[in-house]
Formats: sequence, C-alpha cells, structure tokens
Amino acid sequence: MSPQKKVETVPATAAAPAPEAAPAPQPADRVVIFDTTLRDGEQSPGASMNRDEKLQVARALARLNVDVIEAGFPIASPGDFDAVKAIADEVEGPIVAGLARSLEKDILAAAGAVKNAKRPRIHVFLATSAIHREFKLRKAKDEIVRQAVAAVKMAKQHCQDIEFSPEDASRTEPEFLCEVVEATIAAGATTVNIPDTVGFAMPEQFGSLIHILKTKVPNIAQAVISVHCHNDLGLAVANSLAAVKNGARQVECTINGLGERAGNAALEEIVMAIRTRTDYFAGLFTGIDTRRIVPTSRLVSKLTGIHVQRNKAIVGENAFAHESGVHQDGMLKERTTYEIMTPADVGLEQSSLVLGKHSGRHAFGERLKALGYTLNDAELAEAFERFKVLCDKKKTVYDADLAAIAEDLFEAAAPVWQLELLQVASGNRAVPTATVCLRKDQKRYQDAAIGDGPIAALSAAINRITGVKTSLRRPPKRT
Ligand code: KIV
Ligand code: ZN
Repeated sequence: MSPQKKVETVPATAAAPAPEAAPAPQPADRVVIFDTTLRDGEQSPGASMNRDEKLQVARALARLNVDVIEAGFPIASPGDFDAVKAIADEVEGPIVAGLARSLEKDILAAAGAVKNAKRPRIHVFLATSAIHREFKLRKAKDEIVRQAVAAVKMAKQHCQDIEFSPEDASRTEPEFLCEVVEATIAAGATTVNIPDTVGFAMPEQFGSLIHILKTKVPNIAQAVISVHCHNDLGLAVANSLAAVKNGARQVECTINGLGERAGNAALEEIVMAIRTRTDYFAGLFTGIDTRRIVPTSRLVSKLTGIHVQRNKAIVGENAFAHESGVHQDGMLKERTTYEIMTPADVGLEQSSLVLGKHSGRHAFGERLKALGYTLNDAELAEAFERFKVLCDKKKTVYDADLAAIAEDLFEAAAPVWQLELLQVASGNRAVPTATVCLRKDQKRYQDAAIGDGPIAALSAAINRITGVKTSLRRPPKRT
C-alpha cells in the first residue's frame, strides 16, 4: 500500500465527541446485512472498479436495501478515498463505512472519507491470533489490547458508530478474544465483528465461538455481534449462518461472493437462506428487497468482469433451470416439487425448462405447443425420438431445432402432391408463364398458366392441376 498522493483526512486534533446520533438499535430478530463488495469484494484479484463504477454499485446496494455499505479502505489509495467520499456524500439510506487499521493515519482517513454520510461508520481492525501477533505484528497480547482500545477511542472521537474487528478471530484463543471484545466494547465499539479471516472455521465450531462470546463477555449486549467469513473451504455461508443461529445479528457479505482469495459469504445466499428457512431461523429476517438480487448481481458481474458460475446458488444461470425429465414433469405439475424459491423472489422472470437429453416428453410437448405446434400422440412420439437423437449430437438444442423437427415431420407426414418439373418464363416483354408437372398416386399431371408475375403464374398452374387454391407456403398446422 503506497498512496501516490496524500489523502484528505480530518485533523488529528479533532477531539470533540462525534456529532451524529448513536446508531439506532435494531429489532432483535433483524439480521443486519453489511455489504463489503466495494471493500473486501474489490480485493478479489481482477475485480477493481473505478470511482464511477463504485458509485453505480453503491446506488444498486442502496436500492437492494442493504443496511451497511463498506465503501472502501480510504487509506489504501487516493482513488479509494475519493470513491468512499463520493459514496458517503451521495448515497442515502444505508450506513456508509470506511475501513481502517488501528493506526491514527488510517482512522483519520476513514473519518475524513465518511464524514458527510448521513449515517457514517468507522470500521477499525487489528489482528488478535497468535500467528498474526507473533509473525505479522510482533506484539504481545497486552499491547494488542491497548492498541485496539486506543484505536476505538480515537475513532469514537469522529463517529458514534464504531465497528471493531479482531482480525483472524477464529484462530484466536477464545479467552483472549473475549478479553479484546470486552475491552473494545467498553472503549465504544457498537459492533464487534468476528472474522474467519482465512476461512478456517467449521460451522459448528464457529457457532460455538459466537455462543461463547454471547455468554462470557459481560458487556456483549451493548454491541451487535457481526461475522465476516471467508470461503477458503467453501464454508463462508454455512459458518455465517451457524453464527446467526447462535446470536450474531450482522453478517458481512458480498454480491456474488466476491472477496479476497476464494471470496466472502455471498449476500444472496445468506439472505435467501434466512428468508426461505424462517422456520429454522425462528422468524429472523433481513431488510433486503430480494427482487433486486439478480439485477445487482448482474451489475457487479458486468462492472468487475467476473462472471458468475452457471451453477452458482440463487444468481447462476442454472439456479432456476431444470433439465431432467422427472424434474420437468414435476415442475409442470407443481412448481414446489423442485423449487424452494420462486425466480420472481430474486428478480428473475421465470424458471426455465432446458431441453436436453435428460428431458421428458411432457416438457418437450409443452415447448412445442408454446412454439405453435400442436401434435397428436403419434406425431409427438416421432418428434420426441428425433429430438433425443439430436440431443446426442448437439450440446444445446434451441427452439429453432425443435421447430425444424416439427416442420420436417409435417412435410414427411403428408406428401400428397410431389413436384416433378417446374419451368417459368418471364422477361420485360414476355407474359409470365409457368409450366408445372406434379405427381400424385403414381400419376403425372402437367399444365401451364400465365400470371401477373412468375409466382402468380406458378400458383395458377398448380391451381389448374390440383383444384386447390394455392398461395406462398406457410408452415403447416402452425397456430
Ligand atoms: O477478513 C478479514 O479479517 C477482514 C477484516 C478487515 C474484517 O477483511
Ligand atoms: Zn475479509
């Protein structure tokens, strides 16, 4: 971290207590959604965004109704400072937080960046685990406690809403973690965030850690317990939910699970798990407008250039797509057989029944009907057989392929007249004339006619032979 130009901070001597009101208490059953897409999410390799892109994401997060936007790490670079400030200046609704190490220059930069927010927060962190104490910070336990307390007190002079994170909490000795948490709450922290910084925790264990804090830290009721889980073992969401079950009431998460290394807990998964399993979570809720989830996910993906895997829960392309015949049949009979959420809940128009080699006749027939082809049972059986052959050859079967199968079938089914010969004479001085020879039931029929143009002459010749008034061909039986 080597800032090119000095960032604008608040003066270090601004010792008067922070002017704004203390953060309003949340109902005990509301889970606060703290979005860190613009801070930890942006730490995903390759995910950096410029100021305008960050503003776009922040506006989308406000529409999604997140409770807190962690807008960045103001000391990290002048660009980050500007982006956090722009968001704090403009975006209304959520709390706007800036991250700071437990250092004066960081805290002043964060305070300067969020000072115009209607609801500012400074998020201070300091590592507490033995590994970090020994190798990274080279500090003893008592020095860590002193530094953390001093940082919280300093931040509190600029802002009422202070979050403290003991970095690498999940690998910190639980008794020492309790000591740090108690001391930082006493110093003024209104949220204590317990990070599983390296994604090391197991759900049951992480849940127990939250239970220990809740039962052993005497002043714990004066702060909201938050969690911040990384996904190194693919357990970020599971660990966060285990923490919620044990009393955490803020979850730090990111859109599409972006974040350092394997990412953070995915916001969409946390929110939809709490919403879908209110039975399990005993009525807990979030304030998220879930219909904004997919649009927000797509915006973040577009701006960061990081694609969402197809089978990603909630927001992946396949999240509401069904291919197997058994599943499609179930879906067509009753959606809840194979869907626990509706696509509309997360802002998608509808589920899709993807036709492939696992699909069944029911879904195939329904799709043909939707395309305008009404087939009887025998025709459907034949079309379905051709479709299965095609599926073995092609990875994706499109609607156009289905239409071709149906068209083919109709053509093959009724070859009443067959064309033997067609000759048209036309020119700027000649009268358009057509000669046609057709075959029916082994007999040949030939005739000629004139018309206003070559096609009209052709139609007239066919009319004369068949007695059927013809016109340009349309797909048969299409409705
Ligand atoms: O993972 C982590 O520990 C963090 C802290 C700064 C909260 O991102
Ligand atoms: Zn993190």
